[in-house]
This record gives sequence, C-alpha cells and structure tokens, in this order.
Amino acid sequence: MGEASKALPSAEWVRDLLRSSSALPYDYYPEVTAEERLEYALRQTMSSVESPSAHCAVIDHEDRQGLAVTVPLAWDSDVLGVPAGRVTVFMFSGVDQETTIKVSGELACSVRGQIDELSLQHVSVRLDARELLAAQTLERAGFEIVDGILKFSHALDGTPLAPTDLPGIQIREATKADIPKLRALAESGFIYDRFHNDPRLSKETSDRLHGIWTENAVRGKTGAGVLVGEVDGEVGGFFILAEDKLAKEVFGKSVGTLVLITVGKAYRRRGLAKALSRESLRWLQARGNRWGEVGTQLANTPASSVYLAAGFRMAQTSLSLRYWSPGA
Ligand SMILES: CC(C)(COP(=O)(O)OP(=O)(O)OC[C@H]1O[C@@H](n2cnc3c(N)ncnc32)[C@H](O)[C@@H]1OP(=O)(O)O)[C@@H](O)C(=O)NCCC(=O)NCCS
Repeated sequence: MGEASKALPSAEWVRDLLRSSSALPYDYYPEVTAEERLEYALRQTMSSVESPSAHCAVIDHEDRQGLAVTVPLAWDSDVLGVPAGRVTVFMFSGVDQETTIKVSGELACSVRGQIDELSLQHVSVRLDARELLAAQTLERAGFEIVDGILKFSHALDGTPLAPTDLPGIQIREATKADIPKLRALAESGFIYDRFHNDPRLSKETSDRLHGIWTENAVRGKTGAGVLVGEVDGEVGGFFILAEDKLAKEVFGKSVGTLVLITVGKAYRRRGLAKALSRESLRWLQARGNRWGEVGTQLANTPASSVYLAAGFRMAQTSLSLRYWSPGA
C-alpha cells in the first residue's frame, strides 16, 4: 500500500516538514513565537514517532514529503471494547497542488495499512479545521467526520480573577467521596461528544466511558484536578481540569484546559456552569497558567454560550474523524 517507508525520520527532516504546516499548535497566541511553536510541534511529533507502539509512515521524494503516525490506545480499547487507536500525526507537503494531493493520498493509503497491521477497529484523528485537504483525503480513505470542535481561550495574566459570588452556589475541589455522584452525573450528562455521535458505539458504552474518565480524574490518574459545583449543598456538576506540561517546558508559559463539564438536568440555567468555568479559570491562574482553554462541539450551543458568558474568546476550530474497520 502506498510508497511510504517505515524508517524513522530524523528531527531535522520533521522540522522542515513542520515549517510548511498551515496550523501549528498555539498559533493563535501572538505571545508565543514562531520558533517556540515549531519547537513545541517538533517535540510533540517526535514523541509520537518514537513511541514504542507507534507505526510510522514516511514519504520522502524530491517533490513531496509526508509523515503519518498511528498508535494503539490501551485505555480507549478497554472502555470501547474494541481495539482502538489514534492517528497522532498526519502531515504532508508538495511543490505544487498536484503533488500535495498525490502525497496526501499516498499517506492516507499508508494509514489504512497501519490500521490493518495494528489490527485496529476504531481509529480517531483530530485535525485543525484549516487542514481541510487532509480531512478530505482521510474521508476518501474511509474516515468519517464525527465531530467539530470550537476551542475558546481566556488570558490569565494580570490581575487575579475575582471569586464568583452567587447565592446558594459553592465551588470546591472534588474528593474521593464524590465519586458515586460524579459518575452518575457523567453517565447521564453528555449527548454531543464524538462518542455519543458515533453510530458505531452504543449509548451505554459512551456513557460508561465518561463515568470511568471522571472517576479516573478524581483519583488523580488523569488531568490536574476536578472542581465540584454545589447548589444549596447538593452536588450539581463538575469540571475536570488539565495542564499542558510541554507548553511550560518549551515556551515557559503554561496552558490550562477545562476538559469536561456537566451540570445535572435539575441544576441547569442557574449559573452553575458559568460559576464552574470562572472558578476553574481562577484555579488555573493560581497555579501559574498563562491561559485557560476550553473546547466544545459545534452543535453544543449551550456550552459555547456558557464559555462566552464566562469571558472566553474563540481561538481555534478542528475536525474529529473516525475510521471503523469492518474486518478487524
Ligand atoms: C452546557 C451546560 C454545562 C450548561 O450548564 P448550566 O449550568 O445550565 O449553564 P449556566 O446556567 O451557567 O448558563 C450560563 C449561560 O449560558 C447560556 N446557556 C446555558 N444553557 C443554555 C441553553 N441550553 N441554551 C442557550 N443558552 C444557554 C445562557 O446565556 C446562560 O445564561 P442565562 O441562563 O442567564 O441566560 C449543561 O447544559 C450541560 O451539562 N450539558 C450537558 C453536558 C455538556 O454538553 N457539557 C459540555 C461539554 S463541552
């Protein structure tokens, strides 16, 4: 399949390919220099390339270059109940439009080969929405769009944010005693995400995945912390938080993320999600993060409205695609 070689690329070769990318991480922050973004993308890409379980395809001709990396995902395979993986790198360039289209097709063909070699059934990929050519190429190779993501950002430099003061609403850090209630909220709260929107996955599987994810976050196995929102002393919602350590390492400015929120149906439209968002930003600010980011699905206008009301601004958009192998 395709003309790709499996030899690992050098960092210099990857750096040159990244230079032609139309969408480097954090390119919406003018405070991050082009060299810092390139270094971040290089470290991220090389860590994928060098991961022991990765399958890597390199296309290197005079007029066209491409790199794709596919990795199996143990946690996703476990919770989805099928061998699952992710295409962590999919980038290419050519001297003109014709060769770019040619190399993207060769690369997509190699990805299909990697999926077969790894015996994967459920394979995800996230692309910046500006990389439409890559998304279209992957669609032709059998991937389907299952989600679109809007990413919002809030600057955390300058004056400390004021605490939220809403009658009856209290925000605090989660403890292990919260796990049963938070799991119940997580297992009934989501409808718009890429799992619930995937016709190949049952609602039960997607609900359970969110429950396990939330429990792992409270137990400190994933993310940086969890904030719980109470209404009149009752647990009504939560936000899982994370921090990007690579950003801190590479450009000395740490980026925090508000990863996953839900508010129980009985507690909605009382300002709880907005309060959780503001307090999450304060929590991240107190830990020295320079920005707070949050993403939501294109269809999730309630969540987008919450983030805009909490002071976030639009930063970036991306597409999620998924390949389902019929024969694994
Ligand atoms: C999205 C969600 C978290 C909002 O929680 P919430 O506590 O009801 O939101 P808030 O009360 O803080 O709303 C703040 C503002 O956001 C907007 N908003 C919230 N829900 C809205 C809705 N369903 N439709 C339109 N606007 C909405 C409003 O402007 C609202 O202010 P207002 O009530 O004064 O008009 C909640 O609906 C939910 O848990 N949904 C399911 C899980 C989910 O989608 N999570 C997001 C994943 S990214």
